[in-house]
Amino acid sequence: MWPKKSITAGVVTALAATTALTLVGSAQAQPTTPRADQVTAPGVPAQARTAAPKVGVRTDPSVKTLRQLGDRADLKMGVAVGMDQLHSDATYRHLAATQFSSVTPENVMKWEVTEPQQGKFDFTQADQLVRFAKKHHQIVRGHTLVWHNQLPTWVTEGTFTRAQYRQILRAHIRGEMSHFKGDINEWDVVNEAFDEDGKLRDTLWLRELGPGYIAEAFRYAHKIDPKAKLFYNDYNIEGVNAKSNAVYQMFRQFKADGVPVQGVGLQSHFDIQYPYPPDLLANMQRFADLKVRISVTEADVRMDLPVDPTKAQAQAGAYDALLSSCLLVARCKNFTVWGISDKYSWIPGVFEGQGSALLWDENYQTKPAYDALRRTLAIAGSDRG
Ligand code: XIL
Repeated sequence: MWPKKSITAGVVTALAATTALTLVGSAQAQPTTPRADQVTAPGVPAQARTAAPKVGVRTDPSVKTLRQLGDRADLKMGVAVGMDQLHSDATYRHLAATQFSSVTPENVMKWEVTEPQQGKFDFTQADQLVRFAKKHHQIVRGHTLVWHNQLPTWVTEGTFTRAQYRQILRAHIRGEMSHFKGDINEWDVVNEAFDEDGKLRDTLWLRELGPGYIAEAFRYAHKIDPKAKLFYNDYNIEGVNAKSNAVYQMFRQFKADGVPVQGVGLQSHFDIQYPYPPDLLANMQRFADLKVRISVTEADVRMDLPVDPTKAQAQAGAYDALLSSCLLVARCKNFTVWGISDKYSWIPGVFEGQGSALLWDENYQTKPAYDALRRTLAIAGSDRG
């Protein structure tokens, strides 16, 4: 392993830049013969495959999967899993099982799915994912208990008294966490509770319960499953800024007050148009200094379509900087990407004209970002295994 604490953010940036340059060289020099372990999509006509933009980099077939390389570097490599594609797509299933050591349900542990009617829980789909994870010796990140999005229609404002909202929130946490007790490694207890300016986000929960709802959710969650690692998860808190400062202050306060919170989730939805934050490492380190775990929970790096080799290379640099920072902080133990293939990514549906955000394209060709991550993991793990 590299020395974990003595390297500055500047070094990380320089390291990412060096890696990027190396990759540009190798991407141009390497022939385009497929790797022995390359997964091709069954049923996709060869013409469709060759029509894809040529951004894939071929690497040494002896290089192992993200999962194997992550194991040697003491880092869980995770992925968000969509249940429809897990059922219907064999290539997807194969990659989910072999390339990753941690899974997060992309949607099926959210409130609208697990408690569609008050007090009537449905864990059918989430149970399927937990079974998949057990079969493949993977850990599960629970996502997510308290959020203002993807709520069922019965959870609306102005319908209940404050005491009832409190009971509703507690019953949801209790119902879901007790069902999965022992099966979930990290729980995203509260998701996206802050605004960009560092104020608490104006949500149903804030309006109905007041600012104490976050601490209360953590205290209650800890009672239900004392062994699960409880996370606060958010986006745009990867670098040092008003929002991450507010989250950091909340953690300091929680530590001082004895509120049980063990980790911060950095979603890391990046965009090559905006350079990745130069102070990723400093931000992760300040949370680590509070004895807080850091997980990269939802990494993807989107771009304006169409993709071209330069954009794909910029993307590789961003993914790699994120991973390098995580590897430099001992308390960063999970690096999760928000999907496998661009075929199913949430990006095009939400960010108009954007996409190509993941490590595999829609034809399951890997991108420079995939090789950048493997290279960095291999270096980090080279003195182990
Ligand atoms: C997204 C899913 O990827 C989509 O399939 C769904 O339609 C909406 O939610 N932050 C989060 C995730 O915490 O739960 C979101 O996932 C992406 C942003």
